[in-house]
Amino acid sequence: MILPQVLLQSLVFMNARDCGGCHPRQAQTQRDTPMAHALIPAADSKFLQLHPDLPFSAGGVKYRIQVAASAATFSVVSGRSSFSVPHVWAFGNGITGQTYLFQRNASWYEAAVSFYPALQGLDWTPGHSTRPHTDLEEAVGRRLDNVEVRRCFGCHSTGAKWDPSGRLESIEPGVRCEACHRNAEAHRSTRSPMARLGGLGPEDLSAVCNDCHPSWAEVAANGPRGVPNVRHQFYRLIESRCYDALDKRISCTVCHEPHSHTVRPAAFYDSKCQSCHAAGKICPVAKSDCVTCHMPKTEMPGLHFAFTDHRIRIARPGQSYPD
Ligand code: HEC
Ligand code: HEC
Ligand code: HEC
Ligand code: HEC
Ligand code: HEC
Ligand code: HEC
Ligand code: HEC
Repeated sequence: MILPQVLLQSLVFMNARDCGGCHPRQAQTQRDTPMAHALIPAADSKFLQLHPDLPFSAGGVKYRIQVAASAATFSVVSGRSSFSVPHVWAFGNGITGQTYLFQRNASWYEAAVSFYPALQGLDWTPGHSTRPHTDLEEAVGRRLDNVEVRRCFGCHSTGAKWDPSGRLESIEPGVRCEACHRNAEAHRSTRSPMARLGGLGPEDLSAVCNDCHPSWAEVAANGPRGVPNVRHQFYRLIESRCYDALDKRISCTVCHEPHSHTVRPAAFYDSKCQSCHAAGKICPVAKSDCVTCHMPKTEMPGLHFAFTDHRIRIARPGQSYPD
């Protein structure tokens, strides 16, 4: 990874903390997953490297993200004032979108614009199109308080440590081994046994993922309601008639091997469905590509991405979103 000098000077970077030497099979593929790249220095962004000079203007404000040498510079021109910052973190490097965080006068900000693969360009960050952009302070983005910024880094990296003044001390960017395999310290040093995650049923497995992917209970209590909850896979899957808290055949990891990300053809999932449905009611309509009809893609307004609805069901044309 290319590291901007300033990031290197002020931060200790850790690296898949020595698990790979003894567990090469998981380490070799996990490092290429979207989760492992959920946070990266923006100069390493595959999107920005492909588009080294990205402009966006709206409401009289001009935005630009440029990558040169080992820095990604975010700049904003509003009327006669301007702002530019060369050290930016990129959140999200998967299939949906990428948002940028930076520091300005010792505070953290979420940039007003994000990159969307579907557009191959910039557009407003979710929630920003309706914010005021008249003065520079508002135009650059949304100021984040200490609690929120730690939460962003908490879900998008592993073991981030902050000093009492709010400065990031050390970080392992992205979701790496110890985000899911907890309490590994003693295992690494004295080989004390690790909890085995293989073969967990859906209920127990969710405890591993729910730090970051919200649980059914969280969404049931706090929302969001309507289409914006399509991205909360636990909520959607548990609402589906296929779900059984104790049946391993419907665990997330049946369909998503946690150490690899391969774009799968729809037919890949057929055997997962048929592990339950072969013996029961059989589909009167089709014999393959089950997910294309029963896990419909649902576009989320403002995100330029159609999420996969994990509420497995018979989706009728013109039917409203079942919540
Ligand atoms: C010095 C070599 C070594 C290092 C470093 C190491 N492991 Fe292990 N690990 C082992 C061995 C050997 C086993 C199998 C022995 C056992 O069952 O405890 C194991 C078992 C495991 C298991 C349970 C496997 C099972 O089938 O029961 C997990 C999970 C695991 N390691 C994860 C990790 C993670 C995550 C890291 C990094 C934080 C790590 N290990 C670092 C050697 C190592
Ligand atoms: C430390 C937080 C964290 C934990 C724990 C976590 N995830 Fe993720 N996951 C993320 C983030 C952040 C992304 C978005 C990655 C991106 O697009 O850059 C993501 C993306 C994904 C994706 C879509 C990308 C892909 O690889 O296809 C899947 C599937 C996924 N997670 C499944 C799981 C499962 C299953 C678990 C539990 C075994 C889990 N995650 C645990 C944070 C986490
Ligand atoms: C509670 C954990 C959590 C927190 C806090 C969090 N994220 Fe995420 N983030 C995720 C997960 C999980 C995904 C993947 C979700 C999916 O694909 O359904 C994700 C995906 C993303 C993506 C990819 C685009 C998208 O919309 O899927 C971006 C960009 C992002 N997060 C930015 C941020 C920023 C910026 C913050 C702080 C303001 C933040 N996240 C806070 C867990 C979190
Ligand atoms: C997103 C969560 C997540 C991340 C990140 C992750 N793992 Fe795993 N790991 C799992 C789950 C879940 C299983 C059980 C897999 C299954 O059911 O097929 C597992 C299984 C394993 C096993 C087999 C033993 C067992 O627990 O079943 C080893 C060894 C292991 N992981 C090592 C690693 C190493 C090394 C890394 C980092 C390079 C890593 N894992 C990153 C979730 C994760
Ligand atoms: C753990 C077992 C299990 C798995 C895996 C599973 N299902 Fe189901 N599914 C069920 C059960 C149980 C029902 C409810 C009883 C029935 O109608 O047979 C159901 C119901 C359904 C229904 C009818 C829903 C309704 O609202 O009437 C559809 C359609 C369906 N499943 C499709 C799928 C598809 C497609 C997959 C794979 C993506 C899948 N199922 C995976 C167990 C499962
Ligand atoms: C082209 C779209 C399509 C595909 C592909 C498809 N289905 Fe269906 N499926 C439907 C529709 C539509 C219905 C509702 C039929 C009706 O009741 O009129 C249905 C019904 C079902 C039912 C409920 C049956 C009942 O009698 O209650 C199950 C279970 C099911 N499908 C499973 C599957 C599985 C498993 C696959 C993959 C092997 C699959 N479907 C592929 C469209 C599809
Ligand atoms: C029966 C199979 C199945 C199960 C079980 C399943 N998924 Fe998925 N998931 C899919 C399919 C199919 C896609 C779309 C993949 C594609 O488009 O290539 C997907 C996509 C995703 C994505 C990427 C964003 C999106 O909306 O396309 C995330 C994140 C995700 N799943 C998380 C989870 C989590 C967390 C669980 C457990 C609660 C889970 N999935 C359980 C089949 C499944």
